[in-house]
Amino acid sequence: MLDWLPPSISTVGGEIDKFFYVIYYITTVVFFLVAGTMIYFLIRYRYKEGREVKYTHGNTTLEIIWTVVTLVALIVLALVSKPLWSKIKQELPPSSTVVQVTGKQFNWEILYPGPDGMFGTEDDYQIDNLLHVPVNQVVHIKLKALDVIHSFFVPVLRLKQDALPGREIMMWFEANKPGEYEIPCAELCGFGHSGMLGKLIVHSAEDYDAWVKSTWPEN
Ligand code: CUA
Repeated sequence: MLDWLPPSISTVGGEIDKFFYVIYYITTVVFFLVAGTMIYFLIRYRYKEGREVKYTHGNTTLEIIWTVVTLVALIVLALVSKPLWSKIKQELPPSSTVVQVTGKQFNWEILYPGPDGMFGTEDDYQIDNLLHVPVNQVVHIKLKALDVIHSFFVPVLRLKQDALPGREIMMWFEANKPGEYEIPCAELCGFGHSGMLGKLIVHSAEDYDAWVKSTWPEN
């Protein structure tokens, strides 16, 4: 198996990668079949003195076959991946950590609800581009956009979600390895798009407690 994807630090990363590789190998085989046939035809039917040109008007049987095969492959892939996508995109496992992330030209505005767990109160803490989360815990992200469409992308979490002005999108992840990782914006959003880069900081349990204590010292 190929191994050129970035490392995965997500609890669902392995399943997503497996599925990615299945699609990757299917399309690779199809690519070589199509390209191989084209090259073969180029050589086999190249110009030759005296050869007569024959016109073909298509082959209905062949067309039905490759349409049906492709359709069946698509349906099977959709059915096989359905439980995984539901788990990632439709279900929201319970969590005590909620962070609001707002895309704006050209930063990720990160808002923590503070010890009371509620947004819009005195103890909220806001900072640009630094997303602190605990390791081995489900984290909810409330994703918003202030101006234009941005896309919240964490390659090591295999997580990508567009942020749309006027909408609040809930998503979740569980990181299983402490460290610092990139949060690039994955949607062209203006002249500063390429510099729109946040940092995901996954803390060990003790580190996270220390960060909470230093951020909300009076609690
Ligand atoms: Cu925000 Cu690109």
